[in-house]
Amino acid sequence: MMRATAFATVIALAGCDEAVPDHLRIPGGNARLGARIVAERDCGVCHVIPGLRGARGRVGPSLAGFGARGYVAGVLPNNPDNLLWWLQDPPAVAPGTAMPDLGLRQEEARHVAAFLYGLR
Ligand code: HEC
Repeated sequence: MMRATAFATVIALAGCDEAVPDHLRIPGGNARLGARIVAERDCGVCHVIPGLRGARGRVGPSLAGFGARGYVAGVLPNNPDNLLWWLQDPPAVAPGTAMPDLGLRQEEARHVAAFLYGLR
């Protein structure tokens, strides 16, 4: 009995999506693809990103536990719509921000958002 429970817990942790609360789920977002995009776009140059090798940037805030953050960039309540907006056009959300528009397409932003909400 004990053993079965422990095993179920491991499975839940392994599938990132299982750990994401319903209100932070991104329709069409795939956290695995998101991780790849985040690596390719070098987000780690500016951010600490748990689990991503070399992602130790200090220009922007650490993205650890991002789902628990109350606001996106301190200006928008942290929810899927606002995060997607931010990822696609940071300067429009926070004029003067040091985070550049990285040219993420809508679909890419969805994957990246799913990845970010799965971060511990
Ligand atoms: C040139 C540096 C730079 C790069 C590259 C960059 N960011 Fe940022 N990012 C920032 C800065 C600076 C902030 C803080 C913005 C603010 O508060 O105005 C930020 C904020 C954020 C936030 C909001 C964090 C919070 O706690 O509010 C997220 C999410 C984010 N970035 C994700 C990404 C992702 C994903 C990428 C790659 C696609 C990326 N960033 C690339 C500099 C960068």
